[in-house]
Order: sequence, then C-alpha cells, then structure tokens
Amino acid sequence: MKKTLLITGGAGFIGSHVVRRFVTRYPDYHIINLDKLTYAGNLENLIDIKDAANYTFAKGDICDAELLQKLFGKHNITGVVHLAAESHVDRSIAHPMEFIRTNIMGTVTLLNAAKSAWANDYSDKRLYHISTDEVYGALGSTGFFTEETRYNPHSPYSASKASSDHLVRAYHDTYGLPTVISNCSNNYGENHFPEKLIPLAINNIKNGKPIPVYGKGENVRDWLYVQDHAAAIDLIFHKGKIGETYNIGGHNEWRNIDLILLLCSLMDKKLGRPQGRSAEQITYVTDRAGHDLRYAIDASKIARELGWKPSVTFEQGLEKTVDWYLANDEWLQHVVSGDYEKYYQQMYDGR
Ligand code: NAD
Ligand code: TYD
Repeated sequence: MKKTLLITGGAGFIGSHVVRRFVTRYPDYHIINLDKLTYAGNLENLIDIKDAANYTFAKGDICDAELLQKLFGKHNITGVVHLAAESHVDRSIAHPMEFIRTNIMGTVTLLNAAKSAWANDYSDKRLYHISTDEVYGALGSTGFFTEETRYNPHSPYSASKASSDHLVRAYHDTYGLPTVISNCSNNYGENHFPEKLIPLAINNIKNGKPIPVYGKGENVRDWLYVQDHAAAIDLIFHKGKIGETYNIGGHNEWRNIDLILLLCSLMDKKLGRPQGRSAEQITYVTDRAGHDLRYAIDASKIARELGWKPSVTFEQGLEKTVDWYLANDEWLQHVVSGDYEKYYQQMYDGR
C-alpha cells in the first residue's frame, strides 16, 4: 500500500460516500474508517465495500486520545480526512453538550494525536478538516459567503464547527501542522439520515404523514449533491494548498417551500399519485429558534484553482435521491426503527 489514510465519521452520510470513493478509486491506499457509530453512523451505508482488501473499520470515539495514539502508532497514517461530528442543528438546540464534546474536544484530540505522531516531520502529511458554511452565519436576500467572510455562527452546531475550524487554523499557525479546511453548503443524496429536511420529507410523503415546514418556509439553502461534495473532498485532499480554506457549494439556492413543492411533484410522479396530492401533506409548524435566513456559497475559488464544479443539476440529483430511497426501503426501515420514533415525537409533537 502506498499510503494509509484515516477517515473519521466514515459511517455517516457524507463520510460513507467519501470512504467508498477513496476505497474504490485508490486501491493502493489503506483506508481506516474510525467511527463511534452514534445514531447517525450506519455500517449498512458501506455494505458494498466492507470486505475490500484496502479497507479497515475501527469503532471508536475521536475524543479517545489513547485510541488515537494506538491507531497512529500501529499504522503509518500520513493523511487524515476528518468528518466525524454531531451534525444536526435541531439536536444541537435541544442538547448542545454532545456537540461541544465531539466537534470541539474531538477535533482538538485528533489534532494532538496527529501532531504528536508526526513529531514535526510534516513532509507528505496532511490533516483535512471538513466543515460547513453555517460557520459564516446568515445572509440577507443578497450576497454570498466567500472564504474571507467573517465567522458569525448562531446555533450550537455552527458555533461548535466554527470553534473546531479556529482550532485547526491555530494548530497550523502555531505548530505548523499541515492542515486544510473546506466549508460546504447543505448536502443531499443517498444514505441521508431522515432527520434532515429532504430525507425526512421523502419518508413522510411516502407514508402519508405531515411534511413539517418551519415558519413560512422562506429560509433559503444552497443544495449540493453528496457525491459532488465527495469529489471536491478528493480534489482538495490531493491538490488543495496547505493552510488554505475552500468553500464548496452548488450555486443552487432554494426556498424551503419551493424545494418541498418540487419534491412533492417528483414523488407524485414516482408514486403514481395525481399531481398535487403529496403537497396536501405540507404542514407549517413552529419555526426553529435562531433560524438562519439564507446560506449561499461563492465557490469560485475551488472552481478557479482546482477546476471543480458540480456534475449534476438539482433536478437530476433529486431524482437520483428519490429513486434511491424508493429502491432502498429496507435501509430506511432499519434507520427509522428504534430511537427515531422517540426523536420524532420529541422534536415535532405539539410543534
Ligand atoms: P452525519 O451525522 O451523517 O455523520 C457523522 C458521523 O460521525 C456518524 O457516522 C457518527 O457515528 C460519527 N461520529 C459522531 N461522533 C463521533 C465521535 N465522537 N467519534 C467518532 N465518530 C463520531 O454527518 P454528515 O452530514 O455526514 O456530516 C459529516 C461532516 O460534514 C460533519 O463534520 C459536518 O459538520 C460536515 N458538513 C455536513 C453538511 C451536510 O449538509 N450534511 C454540510 C457541510 C459540512
Ligand atoms: P436541515 O436539513 O436541518 O439543514 P440545516 O439546518 O443544516 O440547513 O434543514 C434545512 C432547512 O429546512 C432549514 O432551513 C430548516 C428547514 N427544515 C424544515 O422546514 N422542516 C424540517 O422538518 C427540517 C428538519 C428542516
């Protein structure tokens, strides 16, 4: 094997697409996927590559310094792609402490492990931290987030990610740790946990349940197909400049209500329902506290410097996503069994 990479959070939504991409495209890399398997981690996401010769799964917590030291000691890890995080804004509003622990303490524990294992020999080493556009706060009806936009997070989730970004930069500036960061807009696609808007709506439309739209549905998000994010991560890991930040986004802004109407129309077509039937399930519910109005990424730096652009339109990506959910009902049933029902009641009953 040419090199060994540690990918954290590889059993989650984006992480599983990144792990699959690296395992299949780089057979001479040994990929170690370290994941705690929280409610969001699911090894079924990686069933197709679980026995690949260049893949190892390690169950564990990024806050566990001893475990990280052992992993770095046992394997000659020269690259890290760090995705492990608590990722859902609504959960962060209800229970912020787990976000502080994993996103901040976990990231700094990982930085320490890499720093100590690499012991100032940073040649051919790289720690790549995956972050979000939510660190920049909220936009009004115009403008875009660039890499220079001032951090202004509003939710415990985005504040914990902002904090982890600052720590990654501090380790680069203070200790010379070879780091790179990207901040991406909202992802959608296969294997997305149905607590986030798109998979939650697909599941509810299918089951004839209300589609909860927060507030007036006027908040805007910039949606990117998950496999296009994985391609950008691949590119930045190999070609991005150490110490730099790259914004990733689809130039694909949708008001939540318009997105839901598009999804309803697509689901009507796929389920053989008369047009307009699924939209009858739309239900406006109490808004999210501190709900950011609009996110929109200026992705011109990654386009200009690394030649990245999204490969699918939103309509194409959404259709692939819906087809995947309809063809993978077993995956969905496993995910919504157990604690999901309790989560759903706590989050939505009486809202
Ligand atoms: P996810 O919630 O689907 O997956 C997170 C994964 O991390 C899970 O497999 C979970 O088991 C694992 N994990 C959680 N705590 C851990 C810990 N303490 N130790 C080890 N593993 C742990 O998240 P996602 O949507 O795939 O997001 C992945 C990364 O990308 C996150 O860092 C997130 O902030 C970032 N991001 C997400 C989006 C998005 O739209 N989903 C957009 C931009 C950036
Ligand atoms: P979400 O998928 O949670 O992503 P984020 O909060 O990280 O952007 O939410 C996307 C948008 O959809 C956001 O404006 C909140 C809204 N939303 C709803 O209207 N209803 C829902 O049930 C959920 C989960 C989100």
